[in-house]
Amino acid sequence: MAKLKFGVIGVGGMGNLHLSNLKALSEVEVVAISDINEARLAEIGEKYNIPKCFTDYRKLLESGVDAVVVATPPFAHRNPVVEALERGIHVFLEKPMAANLKDAEEMYNAAIRSSAFLMVGYCLRFHDLYEWIKEQSETRLGEPVNLAHVAFGSIPAHTWLLKKELSGGMLNENGVHVLYVMYWYAGKFKRVQALSKTLNNDISIEDNIAFQALHEKGAFSSFIQSWSCTHPYRSWAMCFENGTITFDGYLGGEVKLSARDGNKVETKIFEMEWQNMYRREIEHFVHSIMRGEKPVINEVDGLEIQKAVDAAYRSAETGQAVEL
Ligand SMILES: NC(=O)c1ccc[n+]([C@@H]2O[C@H](COP(=O)([O-])OP(=O)(O)OC[C@H]3O[C@@H](n4cnc5c(N)ncnc54)[C@H](O)[C@@H]3O)[C@@H](O)[C@H]2O)c1
Repeated sequence: MAKLKFGVIGVGGMGNLHLSNLKALSEVEVVAISDINEARLAEIGEKYNIPKCFTDYRKLLESGVDAVVVATPPFAHRNPVVEALERGIHVFLEKPMAANLKDAEEMYNAAIRSSAFLMVGYCLRFHDLYEWIKEQSETRLGEPVNLAHVAFGSIPAHTWLLKKELSGGMLNENGVHVLYVMYWYAGKFKRVQALSKTLNNDISIEDNIAFQALHEKGAFSSFIQSWSCTHPYRSWAMCFENGTITFDGYLGGEVKLSARDGNKVETKIFEMEWQNMYRREIEHFVHSIMRGEKPVINEVDGLEIQKAVDAAYRSAETGQAVEL
């Protein structure tokens, strides 16, 4: 079978990572890259020996690729994604789907009109710790009842991230990973309410948010995120119908599990292995295309998360809960 011809649009931090993972796959040939930053384009083109390097992503889309990775900042997701899908080119899109709901809806509509697939890169779906929790829920612990995560940290040094119109906000650009896990475990969001504030005068995004949701199936989710803390801290507490899982951390640590019918708290250590989830998600995308099967995280999931984020920001503004 002929190799899939891939292009990567936006070869900054994540584009570079996906490019190196694609280069390791025998089913794939990376034939083109695009970036508006000429120096970056030349550096990455040379590093990976890429035949075609374009400053204009449209030229890449015209160059005969079967699939693209779009890893531009959120404000620059919509155009390359919609235009690729209109040409029948499969798209792996870095999370979040967009900087705002309108852009996400346009991408959703383009995806449902297209014969090509749109996968959204919620990478925790491919992390062994989060997969293990999902498996415990399905085999032993039952449906989620009450899920909670705290993510305390400080503001990352960044160019576009701290501007609302470019990133969409802290919850939109960063907290969405947690929202995806809540959605994956507990199903669609039904009602969302949130409080938010910005302590740092130099930024136009929120740096504190308290998010709460009721899921359609009845579970609650709570997520508290702050980028104005003086030391970092993260933890999960998850109550299921028949047991509980807790751990301090995000991508590894000592996980505690107890089941209603057991008489002890079990512990399991997960090592930090963040690189593997990115390799596995891109492999899933490639294999989905080859099998002709929709990726497990597609335009439907991307839009659901974007709607929940949009509802949270509207709730924080109006003080009212928002029904989805
Ligand atoms: N999955 C994860 O864990 C994870 C982690 C970090 C970032 N991200 C997401 O990945 C995406 C990219 O983030 P990043 O950290 O790599 O950003 P980055 O700033 O490092 O890289 C973005 C690149 O896109 C280029 N670019 C901007 N507009 C372009 C355009 N129109 N055409 C071509 N190139 C363009 C920039 O010049 C830059 O090189 C964002 O959506 C971000 O939210 C995901």
